[in-house]
Amino acid sequence: MKTADVRRDIPLLEEVIYLDAASTTPTPRPVVEAMCDYFYNYNANTGRGAYGIAIKATHELDQARDKIAKFMNSTPEEIIFTKNTTEAINTVAHGLEFQKGDNIVIPNIEHHSNLVPWLNLQKEGVELRVVKADENGVIDPGDVEKLVNEKTRLVSVTHISNSIGSVQPVHEIAKIAEDKGSFFLIDAAQSAGHMEVDTKNLRADFVVFPGHKGLLGPVGTGFLYCAIDSQEELKPLNLGGGTVENVTEDDFKLTEPPARFEGGTQNIAGFIGLGAAMDYLERISMDKIERHSKKLTRVMYQEIQDIEKARVYGSPENIYGIVSFNIDNINPHDMAKILDETKSICVRSGFHCAIPSIRHIGAYELGGTVRASIHYYNTREEIEILGETVREVSKFLV
Ligand SMILES: Cc1ncc(COP(=O)(O)O)c(C=O)c1O
Repeated sequence: MKTADVRRDIPLLEEVIYLDAASTTPTPRPVVEAMCDYFYNYNANTGRGAYGIAIKATHELDQARDKIAKFMNSTPEEIIFTKNTTEAINTVAHGLEFQKGDNIVIPNIEHHSNLVPWLNLQKEGVELRVVKADENGVIDPGDVEKLVNEKTRLVSVTHISNSIGSVQPVHEIAKIAEDKGSFFLIDAAQSAGHMEVDTKNLRADFVVFPGHKGLLGPVGTGFLYCAIDSQEELKPLNLGGGTVENVTEDDFKLTEPPARFEGGTQNIAGFIGLGAAMDYLERISMDKIERHSKKLTRVMYQEIQDIEKARVYGSPENIYGIVSFNIDNINPHDMAKILDETKSICVRSGFHCAIPSIRHIGAYELGGTVRASIHYYNTREEIEILGETVREVSKFLV
């Protein structure tokens, strides 16, 4: 499938230049249709009813999990459905047992969702050890190694920074965590669906995913990959219907994963849609997405870099899918508002739920940055319009 074919499946791209994939992506028609099929033809709960449409709904949800697992090179048992990436991280933060004196190693460029749940554990005597990224927002594995010791329970790292777009050396960090016997979590919110994310190759215990960003699934979907070997160490976040094998008035026995981690009725339509999104990405091919995104990222970086008084963050060789920038003396929200009002360009502005990261790059006092982020549906022409418009605005306002 070509970019033009995908654009035909996303009608809103005729109305706007959508450059905010890092927040969420518009949902292609086949994904919406798979959800409509559920709502119109077999809208029943899963894993419960013995009647026809309930069996069909259960089967379709199982199929969706199989497709997601295959896409991530994992087994269906390792895929735990959540409502978003944040819930997947909280499942680990609340599910792992931490002792007073344990430590957690995290970079200083994380999204709040991969920071606040760990900060919260300080109340229980867990120490947070923060690794400082370099000026381009990249972590040096050597700095991680210095902080990891026998008390390190977890190392938790983003794959791609959502505020800068910098790609992190996750393979090297995985090895450090493995050698010290610590758990390793990768936040794949900005890489999944944009580049290959192979859970086995990444050698992480936990990988957290949004369904609604690069994977082109609907909002309200996310999932946690939890390696089989780590599942017994994780307690479920929600106990109740669906999580147990047997219950008496005094006790209960948990059922097998993933069901034990998925209390209550799931977002059935959403995950059936996410299953359809896996088919859709396969039809495009991850190779093509990766080549397209690399090329467009380079063009976008250059377009902005060439503007007088522009400050672009990260190094062009190491950012992917995201370009974060400021123009001297223009507030990022003003720039975003003008881009929208003049050319219907949708970008995010501000702190991107990553205040420490924004402080790290020196953009806190500037009100954060303007962030443009892409996917396969974006074209070179759109990026050039972004460049031209930012250039015009900066001439006019500065
Ligand atoms: C790196 C990163 N982690 C976590 C999140 C939170 O994702 P969600 O909104 O799916 O919970 C985001 C969202 O932008 C993100 O970019």
